[in-house]
Amino acid sequence: MAFNNSIFPIASEVNSSDHLVIGGCDVINLVEEFGSPLYIYDEVTLRSMCREFVTEFSDLYSDSGVLYAAKAFLNPAIANIVNEEGLGMDVVSGGELAVAINSGFPAGSIYFHGNNKTREELEYAIEVGVSRIVIDSFHEISLLEDLLVSEKYPQDVMIRISPNVDPHTHIATTTGILDSKFGFAIETGDAAKAIRHLLKSEKLDLVGIHFHLGSPIFELEPYESGVETILRFLQPFIKEGLDLREFSPGGGFAIGYLSNKLPPSVKSYAQVITESTKKYLSELGFGSPRLIVEPGRSIVGRAGVAIYTVGAIKDIPGVRKYVSLDGGMGDNIRPALYDAQYEAVIANKTSLDNEEIVTLAGKYCESGDILIRDIKLPKLDSGDIVAIPASGAYAPSMASNYNLNPRPPIALVNEGSSRLIRERETYQDMMKTDIT
Ligand SMILES: Cc1ncc(COP(=O)(O)O)c(C=O)c1O
Repeated sequence: MAFNNSIFPIASEVNSSDHLVIGGCDVINLVEEFGSPLYIYDEVTLRSMCREFVTEFSDLYSDSGVLYAAKAFLNPAIANIVNEEGLGMDVVSGGELAVAINSGFPAGSIYFHGNNKTREELEYAIEVGVSRIVIDSFHEISLLEDLLVSEKYPQDVMIRISPNVDPHTHIATTTGILDSKFGFAIETGDAAKAIRHLLKSEKLDLVGIHFHLGSPIFELEPYESGVETILRFLQPFIKEGLDLREFSPGGGFAIGYLSNKLPPSVKSYAQVITESTKKYLSELGFGSPRLIVEPGRSIVGRAGVAIYTVGAIKDIPGVRKYVSLDGGMGDNIRPALYDAQYEAVIANKTSLDNEEIVTLAGKYCESGDILIRDIKLPKLDSGDIVAIPASGAYAPSMASNYNLNPRPPIALVNEGSSRLIRERETYQDMMKTDIT
C-alpha cells in the first residue's frame, strides 16, 4: 500500500531513508526508543481537529460547544490538550470522570452519559459537580432523585432520546434506532413520560435534549433527519413548560480508515447540523438553545498510528499468506468486533511498490485475530515495521490484557519531539490486582 497522507496524521511524510515520519519523528527511531508494538499520537493533528470542530461550528452557530467524547481515548495528556483547546468533555463512566478530574479538567465542562450509570458513579458525578448528567432511563431518574440532597439540587440534566433514525453504520455502533439499549424511545411513550416527569421535578432541571445516532457516520442526511424528528417531537412540550436551553445531536463523525473512502469535511457536518437545527427551531417556535456536539473518533482517530513488528510468516500456497505482528486484537479489537477495515504501510520501506497480497494477523490465540485481511503490500520480512493509520480512536481505549499480553505504550509526537504519555504495561502491572 503506497503511503497516502490523507489518512495519516497531518504532517506525515517519508524521509530520505524511506522511513515513515510522523509529527517530525522517524518512526523507526521511535521503535528503537520505545519498543514495539507502539501507538504514536501526533499532537498537531489532535489540536488541529479540536480547532476545526470549534471553528466550524461556532462560525455557523455562535452559541455552540464542542465536547470531546472521552471514550474514543482518554489519558491525562489528552485531557490537558482538549482542555487547552477549549473543548468540554463527555464521559461515560466513573473511570473516565476520575481521569478527567485528576487531570484538572474542569468539572463544570463535563457531561456524564451512559445507559446504566451506577449509584456510586452518579454520587461521584454529583460530588465533583459535573455540568450535566444526561439521563438515559427511569432507573437513573429514581437514583438521582434519591441521591440529591437539598444543597445539591436542582441538578442540571439532559435526557437522551432515540429518534429512530438509522445512520447506516455497523449495527453494533448504531445507537439511535428503536431497537437500542440507549435512550428513551419516542414510539413507546417513554420519551414523553420522562420529559413530563422532569418538567415537574424539583430536584432535576431539564436544560436540554440529546440524541446520538451511532458511529462512524459517513452520511450527512441522518443528522438532518435526527434533528427534525427530535425537534418535531419536542414542540408540543413547549406549552407544557419545556424551555429548551441546550440541544445536542451527539457525535459519530467519520474519519478516513481507507484512502478511497474519505469522510465528509467537518464543515459539511457543521453545515447540515447547524442549518437543520436553525430551520426547525425557528419553524417550530423554539428559542435559541446552545448547540452541543460530541466528536470523539474524529478528534483522535487520525492523530493515532499503530506500529507493529513483523514476526512469523506462514505461506499457504494458493490459499493465503499470514504475516503475524506483535500486537493484534488486544490493542485493537475493532477488526474482530466490527469487521473494521484498515490500510497499512511498511514504515522502514515506505515507498516500495506493493508486490503481494498478505493477511496481517495478530499474536492472540484466536483465528479471528486478524488486523487486515488480504492487503497488497511490498514484500515483507520478519523484523519489518508495519504502521496502521487511523488507529487513534477506540483502539487503546478498548484494549485488553487478553492472553495476558501487556498493553502497548503510547508516544506523543510534536514537530520533532516525542515523549511517552503511557508506559508499556509490565507483567507486574497485570498482576497488581490479583490475589493468590
Ligand atoms: C453519547 C455519545 N456521544 C458521542 C459519542 C462519540 O462518538 P464518536 O467517537 O463516533 O464521535 C458516542 C459514542 O458512542 C456517544 O455514545
